[in-house]
Amino acid sequence: MMLELPLTTLGDVDVASVTARTWAQRAGAPKQVQWELALITSEAGSNAVLHGGGGHATLTLPEPRTLRLEVVDHGPGIGDVAAALVDGYSKGSRVSLGCGLGAIQRLSDVFELRTLPGSGTTLIAVKRF
Ligand SMILES: Nc1ncnc2c1ncn2[C@@H]1O[C@H](COP(=O)(O)OP(=O)(O)OP(=O)(O)O)[C@@H](O)[C@H]1O
Ligand SMILES: [Mg+2]
Repeated sequence: MMLELPLTTLGDVDVASVTARTWAQRAGAPKQVQWELALITSEAGSNAVLHGGGGHATLTLPEPRTLRLEVVDHGPGIGDVAAALVDGYSKGSRVSLGCGLGAIQRLSDVFELRTLPGSGTTLIAVKRF
């Protein structure tokens, strides 16, 4: 079971988030895990669209009872990953909480952020249930 979703607009992010929840439900995940995966997808997807110039999300089931989300963009990358993970850190000019990455990290069993300045960012979040 593998699903690839485009992340070009914030509308795409909403679709991806709802799709991730349904996907988790079909995989047998409990409600709490479904909503947490939807939130992770929403935060990672909005980062890819707003900071990374768009990209795509891939949902897979690498093992039983394990949901894996990968979000890839080809934007400017994150200069200081450690700083970006701290709640309240935001470089955007719009109003934001700067809590997206921190929230993803807290809600994930495995969290990985690979970024290369100038060539983009890959975020991996795994949830087990
Ligand atoms: N995919 C990305 N590409 C480039 N920079 C990113 C990416 N994701 C996050 N960042 C940088 O990390 C910062 C923190 O991201 P985070 O999601 O925590 O907060 P935010 O997007 O600014 O606000 P929000 O709380 O609305 O998500 C961003 O302001 C941005 O500078
Ligand atoms: Mg964000």
